[in-house]
Amino acid sequence: MSVNLDEKIFDKGLANTIAAESKMSYIDGVNGILEYVGIDIDSLARNSTFEETTFLLWNGRLPNEQELATLVAAFRAEYHIPAGLIDLIKTFPTDAAPMHALQTAVAALALHDSEADVNDPDANLRKSIKLVAKTPAIVAAFDRHRKGKEIIDPDPSLDIASNFLWMLNGEKPTDTMSKALDVCLILHADHGTNASTFTSLVVISTLSDMYSSMAAAIGALRGPLHGGANEGVMRMLDEIGELDNVDAAINQKLADKDKIMGFGHRVYKAVDPRATYLKTFTKGLAEDTGNLKLYEMSSRIEEIMNEKVGSRGIYPNVDFYSATTYFSLGLELDLFTPLFAIARMVGWTGHCMEQLEDNKLIRPGSNYVGPHEVPYAPLDQR
Ligand code: CMC
Repeated sequence: MSVNLDEKIFDKGLANTIAAESKMSYIDGVNGILEYVGIDIDSLARNSTFEETTFLLWNGRLPNEQELATLVAAFRAEYHIPAGLIDLIKTFPTDAAPMHALQTAVAALALHDSEADVNDPDANLRKSIKLVAKTPAIVAAFDRHRKGKEIIDPDPSLDIASNFLWMLNGEKPTDTMSKALDVCLILHADHGTNASTFTSLVVISTLSDMYSSMAAAIGALRGPLHGGANEGVMRMLDEIGELDNVDAAINQKLADKDKIMGFGHRVYKAVDPRATYLKTFTKGLAEDTGNLKLYEMSSRIEEIMNEKVGSRGIYPNVDFYSATTYFSLGLELDLFTPLFAIARMVGWTGHCMEQLEDNKLIRPGSNYVGPHEVPYAPLDQR
């Protein structure tokens, strides 16, 4: 609830606060609509590519053939990561969480960019291209390092999704795998002023730099209430184990007032349209890859949740069916959230560039609820 305090509004969790203006994504949480620059997410997932969607979000319109080719070439020229950064990644403990590794390596990219502190629009676009192009290489390099495998050079003949799978597995992905990943990247590319995007805006609004903003955003994304939920979904499916166990397990969790990962959303009080698309898409992928059990368990969880808490506006969100998709793609559990980061890098960088077009320091107040006029007690009297 909002309370007026000396003409300022106390809005816990900023749930009722509009903190930015943006032309990138539109969310209608009541009717379950998500548009990127006015184009329905379902249409983009069916027809676009991650690269084209990136152009759309960054430029406010779809590219023509030449513009798309230019952006694709710019990404491909930046797929590699600096040798010094590869050396650094090789020093990371092999049991480190990939999100920690990613956050550290993204911050370290600044050390290898002479423009790191140049905040003009052209430099920030160049940095955004580098960040989107290099994040997959960082995630793949750390995964190879922790498994004691050789780090694989990017292949600039491949699109971002296929190149990531190539660097991760050392094998060229099938068209089905590339398409599945590309769709996931499109669906996760942007989502208004979510917690990690807001974090990136707070940082860039101080006129800090893109790398610092992205490292901070990665930190916000990894929490289980945000991007970490896709990992939570997979752990829950693992723990439940079999379709026959679903009813008892979910009912018990609800009785214990546990949150069911992959359900609920701050904005959507209807089904998240990304979940609707992923559900259909994932079914085909799960069938093709022999992971139908996971899909069936997920479907049953959704039915129970609809029956029990649907009337309260708690529906599947994007993370719910992402878990089955990523598992079907053969990704390790703790790479699910880094994959989200690879996609959301587009949204974070786009919103930061937008913020700098008309910047104002983001600095909310807080309502002090501690004591006043407390005398200072010397150490020997406490
Ligand atoms: N399972 C069971 N109950 C739930 C769930 C859930 N997943 N989500 C919300 N509720 C209940 C919650 O217990 C609370 O009940 P009560 O009023 O009786 O205390 C009520 O619904 C409101 O929940 P809230 O947590 O206060 O709502 P919020 O807007 O602050 O939080 C949320 C939204 C996404 C953090 C929350 O729904 C949640 O924790 N979901 C599980 C984690 C998850 O899937 N996160 C991914 C979000 S989508 C992708 C992304 O942004 O990264």
